[in-house]
Amino acid sequence: MAEFAFATCLPGFEPAVKREVARRRPDLRFAYSRPGLVTFRASGPVAPDDVSGSVFARVWGHSIGAAGDLATAKAMLAPFAPTRVHVFSRDPDVLVPPEPWESLGAAGPAELGEVVADVIVAPDEPAWIGVHRHDATRPPHAGGSIPIAEEPTAPSRAYYKCEEAIAWAHLPVAAGEVALEIGAAPGGAVLALAKRGLDVWACDTGDLAPDVNALSNVHHLATKVGALRWEQLPARIDWLLVDVNLAPQVALHEVARLIPRLKSTLRGAIITLKMNDWAFIDELPALAERIRGFGLTDLRMRHLPSNRREVCCVALR
Ligand SMILES: C[S@@+](CC[C@H](N)C(=O)[O-])C[C@H]1O[C@@H](n2cnc3c(N)ncnc32)[C@H](O)[C@@H]1O
Repeated sequence: MAEFAFATCLPGFEPAVKREVARRRPDLRFAYSRPGLVTFRASGPVAPDDVSGSVFARVWGHSIGAAGDLATAKAMLAPFAPTRVHVFSRDPDVLVPPEPWESLGAAGPAELGEVVADVIVAPDEPAWIGVHRHDATRPPHAGGSIPIAEEPTAPSRAYYKCEEAIAWAHLPVAAGEVALEIGAAPGGAVLALAKRGLDVWACDTGDLAPDVNALSNVHHLATKVGALRWEQLPARIDWLLVDVNLAPQVALHEVARLIPRLKSTLRGAIITLKMNDWAFIDELPALAERIRGFGLTDLRMRHLPSNRREVCCVALR
């Protein structure tokens, strides 16, 4: 019998998942899609630890099929013996109560190596059932969510993008370190790092939110990245953030000029690659190579919960 893989994604991003899978996984053929869920028919078996075929996949795993009731779901899952159950909404904006599915097993964050039952729910539909094995590249929470405490003073969504990147990649950012952000206004990510005790240099022609600008460990460089002079920068920079609304090839070209100045102290980078054109998805391998060329060779990409038409790339030395 044919086996299937599934991906969940932000509703509306199904074409992005399909496009990337078509390039990366010739063994898979698109099978079925609903907003927030895509399945693929495989030419061979699909293990629960099948490696994700798309950076846009919030959860990726072995797809089992639809279950209208608990007994059916239990029977479908039995061969996989999951030790964790993640019940989550197909559309994160349409919350569906977890009953009765939560009685299938223990909820909560997955441990490394655990087989997780994914129960994907939507109003007035059978649940979609899949399984995946948790590993260090995946967020441990249901649906690939990354819980971040609400910050009422955050001036932008980028506060959450930054915190999600740190949590997902376990970035060892520490108080006393120095960060440079290119494309920093109005200062969401700057606030996140400043609150963590880093000294933050914020490059943007736009203004920072007054409360962020007033922080003693925040320094605004009111210039375009292309006009930023090496002498304007502090001697040591540990972390580089890039969040400019420029095409990713252009953003990386601008950043490349700064790398020789940063290289000796840089520990890593959080680079937001804007995907304003879905054709940029085909460029992801070339963009990754460009970033590796900066000496940041330990690289991973993911569409984080707070990302929109963009991909987060975390790259470490
Ligand atoms: C998505 S916003 C950044 C949000 C910000 N990271 C935050 O945490 O709030 C993109 C920013 O890129 C800036 N930008 C665009 N082109 C730029 C350039 N050539 N040099 C510096 N900043 C640029 C824009 O002014 C804009 O503020």
